[in-house]
Amino acid sequence: MQEFDELRKQAKTEAENTVSLGALNDVRAKFIGKNGEITALLRQMKDIPFEERASFGKKVNDLKEEVSAIFEKKERELKEKEREDRFKKEAVDITLPGNAVKVGGAHPLNIVKNKIIDAFCGLGFEVFEGPEIDSDYYCFQALNIPKDHPARDMQDTFYINDNILLRPHTSPGQVRTMENKKPPIKILSPGRVYRADDDASHSPMFHQIEGLVVDKGVSLCDLKGLLDTFVKLIFDEDTKTRFRPSYFPFTEPSVEVDVTCCKCHGKGCGLCKNTGWIEILGAGVVNKNVLKMSGIDPEVYSGLAFGLGIERIAMIKYGISDIRTLFESNVRFLEQFDRR
Ligand code: PHE
Repeated sequence: MQEFDELRKQAKTEAENTVSLGALNDVRAKFIGKNGEITALLRQMKDIPFEERASFGKKVNDLKEEVSAIFEKKERELKEKEREDRFKKEAVDITLPGNAVKVGGAHPLNIVKNKIIDAFCGLGFEVFEGPEIDSDYYCFQALNIPKDHPARDMQDTFYINDNILLRPHTSPGQVRTMENKKPPIKILSPGRVYRADDDASHSPMFHQIEGLVVDKGVSLCDLKGLLDTFVKLIFDEDTKTRFRPSYFPFTEPSVEVDVTCCKCHGKGCGLCKNTGWIEILGAGVVNKNVLKMSGIDPEVYSGLAFGLGIERIAMIKYGISDIRTLFESNVRFLEQFDRR
């Protein structure tokens, strides 16, 4: 009996002192496992006098059950504690500020390009992109600029060989469209262009969007109406346009188009050099020679064309004073335009 009491006490103390499920399993094995001390008592049965055997066996079994219950209780406690510890460790303080995830935004040039495309698509235009490396024929000759014509100086550019060059404007898009499409034509041709220019308002690489309309009876009045609608969509409702006579070999008549200054609305400020007007694009009625060379009968059809610089529109719209900031990939500069 004394040994029984001793074992019970010992098992209880040892179980209570364990701090992990692993340790508890060891203690359990020590007492009631296959080679445990209490299990060993059962093996003594054969040495017990017959008449005491039944009561001895009952006592051992009772002890075993009692000790098992102690272990089970302890196991429940340890499991519960383990869960609580885990919850504590995994707890998230939802009152702390989160780690902001940086999200990229559209580049200001893409924002402006998409706005321009949206405005013209709303007026029934389609988009057609031509190659950036093109031939002398598409860049110049088919646009009524023969070899050695002084107008080539305006856009002298990067030649790959005598015949192939980085296009100096998107106007080859006019020719490629007219060669492939029958009127009525209403297209926009956006893309990169290259010129030997480099200062605060000119970059050797920049972006243009060419527009071309060819149909029966198209005139300079249609150009005025079209561009009036366009500038109101891009700048604001009060923006007005003004045509100034100009010269391009591929349009006749040719115009340069100004808009009322979006900063001072025509009063005069630094942006418009106190004139109240800002030049935004070149345009005109497509020269008959150009239509003819592209296989369109100028006696039946007429066309109008315009070419605008995306950088220029972005600089006017956002008040950017140096074109180079648009190409420097400075995130602090770029973040200002597309806030999400
Ligand atoms: N291609 C001309 C330029 O780059 C712009 C232009 C396009 C003018 C279409 C008239 C018609 O300066």
